[in-house]
Amino acid sequence: AKTTVNERTENIPIYECQRETPLQHHNEHITHALEILAKEADFRNDDINYSRALAFRRAACVFKCLPSRVEGVQEIQSLHNIGSHVKRIVEDILDNGYSSEAEKTENNDWFKTMMTFTGVFGVGPAIADKWYRLGLRTIEDLKIEQTLPNKDERISTGLTFHDDLTLPVLRSEAEALADLIRCELDTIDPQYQLVVTGGFRRGKDCGHDVDILLTHPVEGKEKGILEDLLHRLDRQGRLIYGKREQSTWNDGVLQGENIKGQYLKSTLDHFEKWIGIMKLDKKCRQCCLNYGLNSNEKQQELLHSSLDMKKVSHLRPDTMSHMDPKNNSTKRKCPSSSSEDRGTNDRTWYARRVDLIVTPTSQFYYALVGWTGSKHFNRSLRLYAQKELHMKLTSHALYDTTKKHLIPANSEQEVFKNLHLRYLEPVERNC
Ligand code: GTP
Ligand code: MN
Ligand code: MN
Repeated sequence: AKTTVNERTENIPIYECQRETPLQHHNEHITHALEILAKEADFRNDDINYSRALAFRRAACVFKCLPSRVEGVQEIQSLHNIGSHVKRIVEDILDNGYSSEAEKTENNDWFKTMMTFTGVFGVGPAIADKWYRLGLRTIEDLKIEQTLPNKDERISTGLTFHDDLTLPVLRSEAEALADLIRCELDTIDPQYQLVVTGGFRRGKDCGHDVDILLTHPVEGKEKGILEDLLHRLDRQGRLIYGKREQSTWNDGVLQGENIKGQYLKSTLDHFEKWIGIMKLDKKCRQCCLNYGLNSNEKQQELLHSSLDMKKVSHLRPDTMSHMDPKNNSTKRKCPSSSSEDRGTNDRTWYARRVDLIVTPTSQFYYALVGWTGSKHFNRSLRLYAQKELHMKLTSHALYDTTKKHLIPANSEQEVFKNLHLRYLEPVERNC
């Protein structure tokens, strides 16, 4: 007999980190609306709306892991994390094909402007809202308004390269960048290891940046690598803008601050890192037709308008050495460095957002889980660790607050084991 969605889903575990959330799922028509409303709540930027955003995201996550498309509101009656507001939204979608509330939000002037402004590198909801209240509405408005963004070098760079930075970074570009960095590391010390984390490691074909984790098998030898690497990249003329942050880690960090849960709100960690913008040759953009092409129309358009379609990569994430920290890649030939800046349109490179994070080897696997994400998955892991195990999980370590000691991990599997969780592959962490 055919089982109902109810029968198949009533045992969905409470925490997102206890269940598989694939990249592609059956309820985009619902999650799209919920994510718009979550975003809108985020923009409002206060405690009450923080909770509202979280509630919308939690609900969206439940829909992402359902085994089939929801066709009737009775199917979701027994699901947890679905409150009356979300039920009304789902009902609206099932009756009319779309959510009038989400549509109204999407067409709202403030929301549209907030989307545009927070899309600029270095701009958060507070600044975006300030600009909105000054009557500014478009990127052009910001560029003309000389006095505002120029005060902040990060924002003015974000504006200068806005077109590039809103063009999605493709997997082939993440690979090319990893090759380039791998090559430099090899000439310093081939024992340095790097792994591309973030959305690409979760199987996404494009993203807003490239997140790269760096480490060395000998504890302590990771120190200084970033300075050396950045120096080399700078000499090649690849750095456009960047901010290097020193490591602020010490043993007191774990036991101390924020044990009550404040740290759940922020993704901040204490690693040495570089948050910046690099030049990457245009020819690194090659279309990936494997899977998971983002449904976002703008991205599709951009993909097809500006791509070199000659080479089609069929690489899946599990076949890529960069995505697997255990797989020490063989030496590669250095790709040639980018040519000189020749103005905007005929230049040979795109500006790309890059995060480089350095971790000591003893913290590597916690850092890997933390920087693989998703953001919401991390939040769920940390909340679960705190509530169910009385442990504090960060991107540095797992700390048992009762026994007052650190629990080491020598693989990602061990991180999950230490948390008494079934192991989830990166591609199953897309909540
Ligand atoms: P796209 O870049 O848009 O593809 O998505 P993404 O999932 O890669 O997001 P992002 O690059 O913003 O972050 C990657 C992961 O690193 C996410 O899980 C974040 O939670 C995490 N992350 C981002 N910034 C920080 C940070 O400062 N500290 C820590 N610990 N984690 C961070
Ligand atoms: Mn990323
Ligand atoms: Mn990032």
